[in-house]
Amino acid sequence: MPEPVKVAVLISGAGSNMAALIDAAQAPDAAYEVVLVLSNKPDAGGLKIAEAKGVTTLAIDHRAFAKDREAHERAVHAALTGTGVEVIALAGYMRILTPFLVGAWAGRMLNIHPSLLPLYPGLDTHARAIAAADAEAGCTVHIVTDGVDEGPVLGQARVPILADDTPASLAERVHVAEHQLYPATLGRFCAGLRQPRPA
Ligand code: GRF
Repeated sequence: MPEPVKVAVLISGAGSNMAALIDAAQAPDAAYEVVLVLSNKPDAGGLKIAEAKGVTTLAIDHRAFAKDREAHERAVHAALTGTGVEVIALAGYMRILTPFLVGAWAGRMLNIHPSLLPLYPGLDTHARAIAAADAEAGCTVHIVTDGVDEGPVLGQARVPILADDTPASLAERVHVAEHQLYPATLGRFCAGLRQPRPA
């Protein structure tokens, strides 16, 4: 069996998707392993969860770089390459990326977004879907490109919107779908990276 792909998960908050990614990587035939969880926020709750699961963690506080986003990204990039990371999974990483990081990891950085892209990029996705009287919401895993929440879609999961849904109740159900979609999609993506190229 090929070596699992080395993945870093980047978070800024609770890290429930990160936890689902780590848990799924415990399967004996997993196509990826989480070698690093990195946060721009030293107090991100997800860091403690990752530590408890035995995964190496690192915080690189963006505030130390003032407004220089690229300098912060260069420090993040150095940590990733220093750890032998092959693929980045953004999971609630609340930073707008510069062309530096996007370019350095082109085709190897994934993100999960809580809407059925191209619908509702950005924030407040669930409130917007309810306000539009949509019949369903969901989540999308996509390759990260320069535009925010754009880039080729790798997988989506759909969740019906119920008559009495609030943004919070809908978010809760979409989160459950995210925890299934992200590990499955990342696993498929990483297995594809290890496929021999046709001659
Ligand atoms: C998720 O809803 C994800 O789609 C979005 O940020 C949220 C992160 O949640 N990008 P968690 O930290 O994984 O619980």
